[in-house]
Amino acid sequence: MPISLKHILSLDDFEKAARRHLPHPLFMFVASAAQDGHTIRANRSSFDDFALVPRVLVDISRRTTEKTLLGQTWKAPFGISPVGVAALCAYRGDIVMAKAAAAAGIPMALSGASLIHMEEVVAQAPGTWFQAYMPGDEPRTFALVERVAQNGFDTMVITLDTAVAANRENNTRAGFHIPLRPSLRLAWDGVSHPRWLLGTMMRTLLHHGMPHFENTYATRGVPIISRHVERGYSERGHLHWKHFEKIRDMWKGRLLVKGVLSVHDARQARDLGADGVIVSNHGGRQLDGAVAPMRVLPGIVAACPDIPVMLDGGIRRGGDVLKALALGAQFVFTGRPFIFAAAVAGEAGVRHAISLLSAEVDRDMALLGITHLDQLNRDHLFRLASPSGEL
Ligand SMILES: Cc1cc2nc3c(=O)[nH]c(=O)nc-3n(C[C@H](O)[C@H](O)[C@H](O)COP(=O)(O)O)c2cc1C
Repeated sequence: MPISLKHILSLDDFEKAARRHLPHPLFMFVASAAQDGHTIRANRSSFDDFALVPRVLVDISRRTTEKTLLGQTWKAPFGISPVGVAALCAYRGDIVMAKAAAAAGIPMALSGASLIHMEEVVAQAPGTWFQAYMPGDEPRTFALVERVAQNGFDTMVITLDTAVAANRENNTRAGFHIPLRPSLRLAWDGVSHPRWLLGTMMRTLLHHGMPHFENTYATRGVPIISRHVERGYSERGHLHWKHFEKIRDMWKGRLLVKGVLSVHDARQARDLGADGVIVSNHGGRQLDGAVAPMRVLPGIVAACPDIPVMLDGGIRRGGDVLKALALGAQFVFTGRPFIFAAAVAGEAGVRHAISLLSAEVDRDMALLGITHLDQLNRDHLFRLASPSGEL
């Protein structure tokens, strides 16, 4: 294990290490959330609504963390959420995360706001999923779906919670914009973090040129550093479920919807042919004040019994994973910890993050008295707000 990982004992330790390693604006871009952070805090605290109820003297000597989702058996019940600009935080960030996920037998969705061609990522890590933002018009939607299909992706995740750009005033305070604007402050942020400057930024510029948003459309998007303020995303405010229906018609692979929090939307997605929904508030990065996924999960599971309901937002411990599954999620995803892990130690860092979380799931299963994740149910949860613990 590389020296830098010896003291990383939990996912949160990666955040502390990344705070030192990354230039402040970049660290804040990943770590912070929209406006006052009500939602990012709610994501974490929602796991404290429940306590786990273990059973004892169960033979747990033979147990597995494997979980079947969408006809495939994964080595653990969690995957890597799509995270944009990973290749700015870590050298070849999207590739190192995708390779580590593939090697560990867990899913990862490549972000539509990523900086490395999807062709290259899927060639290095076959089986990677693709996450798309819906382009605002039909020709660009068709071209993007065609490109994703031609490159052999079998699962596409459509993120729906970005009708307009969020109010990320914390990014502005920290000096982060997309695209980054050349400035003395930006130069100083780089120079004062030489390991990142040489190992990620300069190395990328030297070997691959200026990073661009490569996968938002079928064609190349804007560069990551530019004097022009325009972000290059099309207007999405007019999008409607009928546009989703078109994508469902075009895309023959598995189609997941990410970013729903209402029972109505989840049912709508299922009725229009989604193969699964990811209950998510974008890690608190869109609507501040939005409800935590854990709090709406039971209603959505009840409304969509025939498709897998997944969840992301705030998962940091094996116990969080088990609570979400006991409440009805089929699978969970985590975002920030893996991007921090890639920043701190590349592919080895992401592998370490995956093995830490897997080990916690495995240990907590044993302490809970189960040998298979499908044994989890509501009897394993005590709801703290209710005197009797009933859900
Ligand atoms: C830096 C960063 C970039 C993100 N980029 C995307 C993206 O491109 N597409 C998307 O659907 N979600 C994106 N998300 C949201 C994540 O997919 C996920 O919903 C969120 O990170 C889950 O919360 P967690 O970080 O607490 O695990 C991003 C999140 C972060 C932190």
